[in-house]
Amino acid sequence: MDTTESKHILSGKKGIIFGVFNEKSLAWAVAKHCVDEGANIVITNTRAAAKLGSSEKLAASVNMPFIPCDATNEADLEHLLLESQKILGGQINFILHSVAQSLNLRRRKSYENLCYSYYQKTLDISALSFHKLLQTAHRLNALEMGASVLTITYIASERSMAGYNDMSDAKALLESIVRNFGRILGEQKQIRVNAISQSPVPTKAGSHWNEESYFFSYSNQLAPLGNATADDLADVCVMMFSDYTKRVTMQTIYNDGGFSKTLLTPSFINSFRKSVDTEDTK
Ligand SMILES: NC(=O)c1ccc[n+]([C@@H]2O[C@H](COP(=O)([O-])OP(=O)(O)OC[C@H]3O[C@@H](n4cnc5c(N)ncnc54)[C@H](O)[C@@H]3O)[C@@H](O)[C@H]2O)c1
Repeated sequence: MDTTESKHILSGKKGIIFGVFNEKSLAWAVAKHCVDEGANIVITNTRAAAKLGSSEKLAASVNMPFIPCDATNEADLEHLLLESQKILGGQINFILHSVAQSLNLRRRKSYENLCYSYYQKTLDISALSFHKLLQTAHRLNALEMGASVLTITYIASERSMAGYNDMSDAKALLESIVRNFGRILGEQKQIRVNAISQSPVPTKAGSHWNEESYFFSYSNQLAPLGNATADDLADVCVMMFSDYTKRVTMQTIYNDGGFSKTLLTPSFINSFRKSVDTEDTK
């Protein structure tokens, strides 16, 4: 990398950010940090999300265009990739796929009682859409040599976690797509494909994880560094979109304060002991 260039590490880079629904969306924190670091971006979401949320208004607030796209629809993806290249003036340097939805979760269907049409939708929106995006970008040659593509995942892809439901399966599939497309695009065009495994953050998709919820505090307390915020995620994404990480690919990178690698800590044992003692004295 030429270190005489601007100190903004994404200066001159062209990106597409999926998944800005409102100010709380992880993708919104990433979009703002990318713009602050000198990137030009296109913000995208479904037409329905744009109506219900504030994607278009947020895009306008950073002077960036909004192009609607349903990430499960290949014609929409093609239109997005072609229009973005026209608007931004060339091939794309980075993409954030921050897309997920489970009707089974939303409608409180338990894992042993799933609705299969919802299950297929969960997989299509939360995992296959990433394959469709990469396949369309590959077909159109829309990504620049050395581009960086990221998606957001969660540790429940590897561990069984009550309540995460069919989204666990979607995240496992998503991480596999990261490895398989990462190999192909890496060999062909030095393109990096990675997933960031993120701590819980209260957003629309993470609405069951508000800051008072048991799981949010459990994770925050167990993680040696505490839960990573949306801004922490944005910092990692900026680094991954930059040329500083040009040989990092096919990885699931944990931005979770160490939660995924921790079994117990003294402070956790102490608070658990206290809660058991309180139970005993009841
Ligand atoms: N919030 C958390 O705690 C957390 C933790 C780990 C991983 N994640 C992941 O981060 C990503 C972003 O979630 P978030 O927490 O910011 O919530 P969010 O609800 O703000 O973002 C999810 C986005 O997906 C979009 N989306 C849904 N269907 C789509 C489709 N067909 N086409 C295009 N976009 C579509 C929604 O409109 C929304 O903008 C998701 O993949 C989620 O699983 C979130």
